[in-house]
Amino acid sequence: MSSIFFPPLLQQINSEIARHAAVDLYVLRLDLMHPLVNGNKWFKLKYNLLEAKEKNFTTLLTFGGAYSNHIYATAAAGNLFGFRTIGVIRGEQRLPLNPTLSFAVQQGMQLVYLNREMYGQRNTPALQEYLQQRFGEVFIIPEGGCNLNGVRGCTEIVGDAMPTAGYAYAFNHICVACGTATTLAGITLSLDQKQRAIAFPVLKNGAFLAQEIENLLTNYLASGLPAPYTSPADWELVCDYHFGGYAKVNDELLQFSQQFRGEHGIPLDYVYTAKMFYGVMDLLKQGFFRRGDSLLLLHTGGLQGNVGMEKRISSKSPAKASLQA
Ligand SMILES: Cc1ncc(COP(=O)(O)O)c(C=O)c1O
Repeated sequence: MSSIFFPPLLQQINSEIARHAAVDLYVLRLDLMHPLVNGNKWFKLKYNLLEAKEKNFTTLLTFGGAYSNHIYATAAAGNLFGFRTIGVIRGEQRLPLNPTLSFAVQQGMQLVYLNREMYGQRNTPALQEYLQQRFGEVFIIPEGGCNLNGVRGCTEIVGDAMPTAGYAYAFNHICVACGTATTLAGITLSLDQKQRAIAFPVLKNGAFLAQEIENLLTNYLASGLPAPYTSPADWELVCDYHFGGYAKVNDELLQFSQQFRGEHGIPLDYVYTAKMFYGVMDLLKQGFFRRGDSLLLLHTGGLQGNVGMEKRISSKSPAKASLQA
């Protein structure tokens, strides 16, 4: 499998807020890795694609909502690396297809819709067997790339995407937006004990993710799969910046994203990175970090989702906008 070309991805943020807090602020621009398969998506997919190839599967099947970054990236990666792809989408079909699903179809993905009740069974052996019977031998990747292959790829993020080996150790805090926590789990296994990962859940009541993270880490360490470290670095969940829940936004978040892009030239996606960046800037103002701290914020991509989100925002009050179908 050919490797992906990395342009220089590390960017310093010159912000008055960070200067005032005496904190160094850098962004790792994973969104720039590749035009289609970028952000944390590439890392979560990489070992799934390799396993599928090794086991001679020709078709990948995965799950997601109608605006899913994971569906978008799997469709593109499947096309790039010669797999057929099937996307199992939560809910009813809506025509015309939104930009995410139109793109997936253009990449050759076959879309299948499951009602919410059936979709809720997606990780059960019964539903997976049904899908295998319906579509033949398919390599199943869970929603969001949340499996041990996904964690494995994410253990490589800070090592692979840095300008030089070992550069990641210059930072004592690594900040990341958190959905399934696969990315966070991988990150904690790539940091030394002096570093700390801070995850910002983008869904409401995200504290439950602590148990998910423990489970992912326990299972990963028991699996014998490789990782830079055999015990995870410290991590912490900051659950106050979900803005009402998954894919919910308000005027404040939208204004923050526009201003951030204007000042620093960095576009943020509204569902994940905007919430994390907002949270970090707010915590800086509150004195959460110590003087002399050095922060690395992971830009995990997801910008494709802004197209659909902006369409919805322009058709209704921004405060009510939501991507949930
Ligand atoms: C752009 C973006 N950032 C962050 C995340 C969160 O990653 P994870 O689900 O591994 O916590 C996702 C979801 O995969 C995402 O699409």
